[in-house]
Amino acid sequence: MLQGKHIVLGISGSIAAYKAAVLARLLIKRGAEVQIVITPAGKEFITPITLSALTSKPVISEFFSGRDGTWNSHVDIGLWADAMLVAPATAATIGKMAHGIADNMLITTYLSMKSPVFVAPAMDLDMCAHPSTEDNLRLLEQRGVRVIEPSEGFLASHLEGKGRMQEPEVIVQALEDFFALGKDLAGRRALITAGPTYEPLDPVRFLGNHSTGRMGIALANELHRRGAEVCLVLGPSALRPAPGVEVISVQTAQQMLEASRAHVASADIAIFAAAVADYRPAERREHKIKRESEGELVLQLVKNPDIAATLAQDKRPGQLFVGFALESGSGEAEAQAKLKRKGLDAIVLNSLEDEGAGFGHLTNKISILTPDTPMRSYPLKSKEAVAGDIVDFIRSTISGETHA
Ligand code: CTP
Repeated sequence: MLQGKHIVLGISGSIAAYKAAVLARLLIKRGAEVQIVITPAGKEFITPITLSALTSKPVISEFFSGRDGTWNSHVDIGLWADAMLVAPATAATIGKMAHGIADNMLITTYLSMKSPVFVAPAMDLDMCAHPSTEDNLRLLEQRGVRVIEPSEGFLASHLEGKGRMQEPEVIVQALEDFFALGKDLAGRRALITAGPTYEPLDPVRFLGNHSTGRMGIALANELHRRGAEVCLVLGPSALRPAPGVEVISVQTAQQMLEASRAHVASADIAIFAAAVADYRPAERREHKIKRESEGELVLQLVKNPDIAATLAQDKRPGQLFVGFALESGSGEAEAQAKLKRKGLDAIVLNSLEDEGAGFGHLTNKISILTPDTPMRSYPLKSKEAVAGDIVDFIRSTISGETHA
């Protein structure tokens, strides 16, 4: 799978840098061409001579050579690469990647990268568990960077815990798996609704819910990565999908319906992942509601349109419509009823009872139901990994495989 692939191997300053030599060797053995970009601190742990001897290419570290003025173009490396792998990725490098602090060649190369990026963190257990490291990694994940989670074990500090860079074989396998998946949805178009909707009461207040949009965005990223053309109709969310996903930002359920309606006809796949507010205030006050002039406030709410059900009425043969159902209890019967009522082809069930699943979590635990196949349940996983399972299901459904 790595035959002929151009891999940029970014090395930062961790004791695990010694494993980068094995990593480079393994990548080359599998047929890849490897260009190493190393940080100044990385060179303290492993010498450029070792690395250039293994890769048959000069190691890049400085922006230009002081001796003859030769200039290293991070832009050219970004265009050349099929993937960038930062291994080991220290807490400092992860932080700089997350915040665009382009003070070395590895970070400028990362910022110029047009291809998928992988990071294999390596650090002490407390640094690894620190909220700033965790937040930086999640930020990178939201932008589509793939994190090869560190393992638990003995660390250079003689402590034991999570922070060991994954073994080179595991890292190479992650890249191979990625390239093996390929662009199996090339030529397909997908429409996704995601996030909450905000239904205004007056200029400053709204009715809304706790949805972050993370699951729908993870689906958009996964479909895009696998070659689909993706349109994401996104309610108010602080998160953004990877570059290349078309985003239409909306506030209300009615705006979400109109934006989705405009794109659904050309879509092969429609996924309704939004947590749409079922009701909206009957009127939106023009001025801020004032406590003194109001007394008791009684709100009249009217039903919002059901976006999934409305669009499914005009579903044409060959289109696949997938909804979500968040239910209390096991929820199987409710989800099955929802699937039929809305005219969908499949529904992804989350149970409020499952710890770590649904709103506000980085993880999710799902089951997929269709009208005519047994329910398929999956273990608790990151929302990115769950998106992979859902997209696998979609791909096999549209290519006519059976789900026995
Ligand atoms: N949905 C939608 N438009 C709505 C409500 C829901 O498109 N106005 C979609 C959601 O995006 C999801 C599915 O319908 O894919 C189920 O959403 P859910 O809130 O579980 O269903 P409801 O029909 O609102 O039922 P409930 O009474 O359980 O809230």
